[in-house]
Amino acid sequence: MHAGERQRPPHQPAVLPIYQTAPFSFDSAAALDDGFHRADQQGLYTRYANPNIQVVEEKLAALEGAASAVAFASGMAAISGTLSTVLHAGDRLLAAADLYGGTSGWLAWLVERHPSVVVDWVPLDDIAGRLEAGAATGTRAVYLETPTNPLLRSCDLARIGEACRRDDLPWMVDNTFATPILQRPLEFGATYVVHSATKYLGGHSDVTAGIVAGPDEELESVRRTLRLAGGCLDPHAAFLLARGMRTLPLRIARQSENAARLAERLAAHPAVEKVYYPGNDPVARRQMSAGGAMLAFEVAGGLPAANAFLDRLELVKIMPSLGGVETGAVLPAVTSHKALSAQRRAELGIRDGLIRMSVGIESGADLEADLVSALA
Ligand SMILES: Cc1ncc(COP(=O)(O)O)c(C=O)c1O
Repeated sequence: MHAGERQRPPHQPAVLPIYQTAPFSFDSAAALDDGFHRADQQGLYTRYANPNIQVVEEKLAALEGAASAVAFASGMAAISGTLSTVLHAGDRLLAAADLYGGTSGWLAWLVERHPSVVVDWVPLDDIAGRLEAGAATGTRAVYLETPTNPLLRSCDLARIGEACRRDDLPWMVDNTFATPILQRPLEFGATYVVHSATKYLGGHSDVTAGIVAGPDEELESVRRTLRLAGGCLDPHAAFLLARGMRTLPLRIARQSENAARLAERLAAHPAVEKVYYPGNDPVARRQMSAGGAMLAFEVAGGLPAANAFLDRLELVKIMPSLGGVETGAVLPAVTSHKALSAQRRAELGIRDGLIRMSVGIESGADLEADLVSALA
């Protein structure tokens, strides 16, 4: 909670005010010249650095146990900014087949425009085995998500970490769904950990942001990409994000507790065919300190029944995002994974009637009653 909140004289506000400014100004021409020689580029121009942005970067680095972090204007900006720093012409990326649709969409776009970059799509469960067997020769980096969006699948971070260490391979984990409160990929040796901060880190569905954490030297290169490519976070968005991050552990505890309760209730309901919840997955249980606040399920009757269910919810919002204090539900086939072909979705097991739910901080009893009544 305290990381990044350094007191700045002379007024010592308890909360850092919003530095809503694009440029910073200087007392003299000499000060301007000195300023532009500063290594950290603070106090010059918000695309290079801004105190509010620095607060969220220090907070995420502290939470993930990283040396550094770099904030971006969205999760996609953080993912594309980091991958375009890591990948060079002619490189091969080993990517998990199960990824947020925007991430797989960006990788497909990259390969189409820069065909010398190759992406090997590997099923999540095969990544560790592929690396251990030495079958990933020529791979320059590994990219994955765990638990995944939307089927909440998990992969074994310890095994992947061991194989990547042996081959000296940088690897990157999207930790948006677990958050550093429940899972810290860097402790398993991951090089980079990335977040859509729009989700749990912000926590109130009112800010779009992204952030990546990792070692100093690598993050300096990512920061250079950010300064050149320009996807910087706005200071007001950074202020809101820092405010959200202060309550992250409290929200995650409450939201995970509610989600575990709903996962159990749904599994026992005759109208529910299948429930996906990391708390029931032995791999997730080994590396996450609780089951998390995301779940997915299928109701009997497929797409028409899933649509009817969404329409009958009263408390739970129909909402194409996640990680906020309010519970939201959505059909991934028409939102987060709409960009994938129907065949690709079928291969991944994302059925048209799959419902993904982000569980909030409401009363667990109220949420349960809303679900049970919509299912009835
Ligand atoms: C797991 C995951 N990663 C990345 C993103 C992209 O984040 P943003 O929407 O902040 O760009 C999302 C968005 O839904 C996501 O669910």
